[in-house]
Amino acid sequence: GAFTEKQEELVNSSWEAFKGNLPQNSATFFKLVLEKEPGAKDLFSFLGNGVDPSNPKMAAHAEKLFGTVRDAAVQLKTKGEVVAEAKLGSVHTEKKVTDPQFAVIKEAVLKTIKEAVGDKWNQEMNDAWEQAYDAMAAAIKKTMT
Ligand code: HEM
Repeated sequence: GAFTEKQEELVNSSWEAFKGNLPQNSATFFKLVLEKEPGAKDLFSFLGNGVDPSNPKMAAHAEKLFGTVRDAAVQLKTKGEVVAEAKLGSVHTEKKVTDPQFAVIKEAVLKTIKEAVGDKWNQEMNDAWEQAYDAMAAAIKKTMT
């Protein structure tokens, strides 16, 4: 169904919580990714020395990725659909990102948000992130060649 104002608020408030402790949350995220997909170590240029919370490149990347999903929530609320920047298509095409990897990243995003917000977490918040992620993933795949 349509993406509601409430859903957008849930994504925005948890995005703020995520950013509020970026070093720890980005480490949580990349640990989850590597547990499911050890090969991601070679995919992400900044994971050469493993998951290091004090690595600014890792934190910057997590901020971009989660920020892009948050942007999808804003797009869903304001225009009912999500369009990805062409650059995102070319980056992920170049890295040969696969559908199963999109599923791994999704699971890690949802779990990281859950940890980041603590007792503020609820199913509705989870579903809002899931909808936004799915819409952005579909938009990125559309621009991949
Ligand atoms: C780069 C977002 C899924 C692997 C990026 C960038 C963004 C982004 C914003 C940075 C582009 C730039 O430099 O301007 C997303 C979003 C995703 C997604 C929103 C899902 C909806 C994935 C998946 C993988 C992946 C599933 C594979 C596991 C990468 C890699 C880079 C990248 C390897 C380059 C990182 C580097 O600089 O080393 N992504 N991504 N992404 N993404 Fe994704």
